[in-house]
Amino acid sequence: MALNFSSNRCFFFIVVVLSIFATTPSTSQQQTSDSCNGIFLSYTYTGGKKLQPNLTDSASQPSRFESTMTVLNNGLQELKSWKVFVGFQHGEWLVSASNVVLADGRSIPGAVGNGAVLAGSSVTDLKTAAATAGDLTQTQVKVDMVGTVVGVTPPGVPMPSAINLANDGFLCGEPNSQGNNETHVCCTIDPNYKTKIITDENFLPRQNGDLTIIYDVIKAYNSNYLAEVTISNHNPLGRLDSWKLSWNWTNDEFIHTMKGAYPSTIDSTNCIFGSQGEFYKELDFANVLNCEKRPTIVDLPPTRFNDTQLGKIPFCCRNGTLLPPYMDPSKSISRFQMQVYKMPPHLNRSNLTPPQNWEINGSIINPDYKCGGPIRVSPSQFQNPTGLPSNISSIASWQVVCNITKSLKSDSPKCCVSFSAFYNESVIPCNTCACGCHSDQERTCSVSKPAMWLPSKALLVPFENRSEMAHDWASLKNLQVPNPIPCGDNCGVSINWHVNTDYKKGWSARITIFNWGETNYADWFAAVQMDKGAMGFEEMYSFNGGLLERLNTTIFMQGKKGLNFLVAEANGSNPRKDLRVPGKQQSVISFRKGKNDEINVVGGDGFPSKVFFNGEECSLPSVFPSNGLRNELSLYTIMILILLSIILMQQW
Ligand SMILES: *[C@@H]1O[C@H](CO)[C@@H](O)[C@H](O)[C@H]1NC(C)=O
Ligand SMILES: *[C@@H]1O[C@H](CO)[C@@H](O)[C@H](O)[C@H]1NC(C)=O
Ligand SMILES: *[C@@H]1O[C@H](CO)[C@@H](O)[C@H](O)[C@H]1NC(C)=O
Ligand SMILES: *[C@@H]1O[C@H](CO)[C@@H](O)[C@H](O)[C@H]1NC(C)=O
Ligand SMILES: *[C@@H]1O[C@H](CO)[C@@H](O)[C@H](O)[C@H]1NC(C)=O
Ligand SMILES: *[C@@H]1O[C@H](CO)[C@@H](O)[C@H](O)[C@H]1NC(C)=O
Ligand SMILES: *[C@@H]1O[C@H](CO)[C@@H](O)[C@H](O)[C@H]1NC(C)=O
Ligand SMILES: *[C@@H]1O[C@H](CO)[C@@H](O)[C@H](O)[C@H]1NC(C)=O
Ligand SMILES: *[C@@H]1O[C@H](CO)[C@@H](O)[C@H](O)[C@H]1NC(C)=O
Ligand SMILES: *[C@@H]1O[C@H](CO)[C@@H](O)[C@H](O)[C@H]1NC(C)=O
Ligand SMILES: *[C@@H]1O[C@H](CO)[C@@H](O)[C@H](O)[C@H]1NC(C)=O
Ligand SMILES: *[C@@H]1O[C@H](CO)[C@@H](O)[C@H](O)[C@H]1NC(C)=O
Repeated sequence: MALNFSSNRCFFFIVVVLSIFATTPSTSQQQTSDSCNGIFLSYTYTGGKKLQPNLTDSASQPSRFESTMTVLNNGLQELKSWKVFVGFQHGEWLVSASNVVLADGRSIPGAVGNGAVLAGSSVTDLKTAAATAGDLTQTQVKVDMVGTVVGVTPPGVPMPSAINLANDGFLCGEPNSQGNNETHVCCTIDPNYKTKIITDENFLPRQNGDLTIIYDVIKAYNSNYLAEVTISNHNPLGRLDSWKLSWNWTNDEFIHTMKGAYPSTIDSTNCIFGSQGEFYKELDFANVLNCEKRPTIVDLPPTRFNDTQLGKIPFCCRNGTLLPPYMDPSKSISRFQMQVYKMPPHLNRSNLTPPQNWEINGSIINPDYKCGGPIRVSPSQFQNPTGLPSNISSIASWQVVCNITKSLKSDSPKCCVSFSAFYNESVIPCNTCACGCHSDQERTCSVSKPAMWLPSKALLVPFENRSEMAHDWASLKNLQVPNPIPCGDNCGVSINWHVNTDYKKGWSARITIFNWGETNYADWFAAVQMDKGAMGFEEMYSFNGGLLERLNTTIFMQGKKGLNFLVAEANGSNPRKDLRVPGKQQSVISFRKGKNDEINVVGGDGFPSKVFFNGEECSLPSVFPSNGLRNELSLYTIMILILLSIILMQQW
């Protein structure tokens, strides 16, 4: 009996202990998320192992890590398009992650060592518990991540520096941890946050950016839909020539037909041999345009604008040119339509997902763009084509924002600038190798020595024929001649900025654009940024343009009608004897000096701090021409002025 009693107690004790052990983790997990009345984020390291090679330097030893992130909506409002910042900090390389994409549009696998914003891919919106009777499948998303980490080997735990909700209008509290392998944080709505743009409550506001792409679904059927894609350039210096647009289909969609643009390859083989051919047995795949997972779309030539089969879309068919809105608002937009076929299990009129991983490119001399992921926005409104006063709404709309990126790569500029001035006879040419040098050039010329100063007439001569002039100039002006001599700039386009005059009430400059390349530039534009000088802009004589309102310090210029074509370099009239001739455009620009403006033109305020050609930022010389003999020179100019006025008076 006694024995029985004690064994009973013992059993009871074991049960209690076991149940404590079994429930402790789950109740504490429960407690932490339960005490959060907002968006609960948690990140747990679940395991890892050291990877080959086995290095002696432990700081560069790679290891595998596995972790789980949870995003749970415990608030009262639905969370649209959730985004979470994970502060990876150990050189992480993310190999796979379920249910998410990288919000900056890069693909996985990818480097995330400086932290990354993850956005939902399958579940983008998290509903509230109240709206779903606590259905975790709709209020929570779990992300399983696998990747490689550098320098932290098990049993070390590579935790991120922070996790945060990246959606606008939320405040995250202090992060808490359980042990060294878990961290969580609760984020609540910021009561002081005001959305700048008021829209339909159910959608995120449309964002601003250098270039935006709207993906509108305008007709939807069970198995296919008609999408209209509108690309708009908003940056006053943004530009694309022959744009190429690409994206990834995520659900095996394919493009049946297209109007206003065209895939760069017509290819339905993937469908014929793939699941699409299996499913759409009756479809004539000879008429299917493209079945690539990542198609590339190009614009149609202008001659197709009136083509009833391929064209007839407003803003289509301009050879892929997107100009700044300042030049021509109607040429800052491109548009096309396509019929997209879907695959099971997405055969449902209302089941619409936009493609991911958008990328847009132009030609060599355009800025680089980087696009974010598509964000669901309020439906677009179109004018009724029948002329009725009611608008037509799209069925669903997504927005992709692309911003200009500074070329991070070793990508060198594609244009360069030389400086000259009336008070100095030497031209400061474009920097050596401003647009890159071939490594094999190193043997014949120096890639690092500064460019040799030149007489102004040398600017009209191709670089390969300048050497004699440069040597003569050096001996005339007692300049040093490096050995080997510096390499050229290798730029297709070079721009000379010449300070022409400087007097009490104003000053002027002359800009000359040279095209040494093989490409003609139609509708070219240039822009100069001058931090002090630009505000005094008065007039431009041979170009159209002016001060940009949005960028106070920037002067925009383009060719006048009929002169908006910068031709390529050509042979001289007698190619045997004459030098090659660059395409050339030139204008004088005059500036006022206000009473209070402290502009020291000769001291450097007369030179631009940035120069752009077709949106691409050009390389600038590092020195200005200076005026060693300023007083004598100005005396000299005064004498010339007196002389001139005497001559003029005599002529009258
Ligand atoms: C996390 O840490 C706790 C205590 O520090 C430990 O008991 C648990 O096993 C760890 N979990 C993993 C997956 O390493
Ligand atoms: C890795 O190298 C260290 C010393 O460099 C050694 O102690 C360890 O046993 C090695 N581990 C494996 C798995 O080879
Ligand atoms: C996009 O598609 C290309 C081509 O199939 C593929 O190489 C790439 O990994 C895809 N990217 C993503 C994020 O799926
Ligand atoms: C693009 O730039 C705008 C500001 O000009 C910024 O608000 C937006 O977040 C940027 N978008 C991306 C995807 O970088
Ligand atoms: C854009 O340029 C990048 C780098 O040059 C290239 O990898 C990519 O394929 C290009 N994309 C398109 C759509 O041409
Ligand atoms: C297209 O048709 C319109 C009206 O018929 C005409 O004005 C326009 O010049 C045509 N455009 C082209 C590129 O043929
Ligand atoms: C369209 O662009 C191509 C090169 O991309 C060029 O050869 C052609 O001349 C352009 N056509 C027009 C009408 O501008
Ligand atoms: C289509 O999708 C909606 C919501 O996504 C769902 O309610 C409906 O049952 C689906 N219809 C079919 C035929 O699958
Ligand atoms: C129609 O849409 C335009 C924008 O595309 C908008 O300015 C206008 O107010 C809308 N009209 C109606 C009647 O909604
Ligand atoms: C200019 O340089 C090129 C290339 O070195 C050479 O072929 C050509 O004869 C030179 N022209 C003159 C007029 O010296
Ligand atoms: C542009 O200049 C005006 C003065 O003329 C100044 O008030 C304004 O702040 C400037 N804008 C920018 C963006 O610098
Ligand atoms: C011309 O400018 C250069 C560069 O600033 C300077 O070194 C040189 O002395 C100037 N020449 C004269 C004659 O002022």
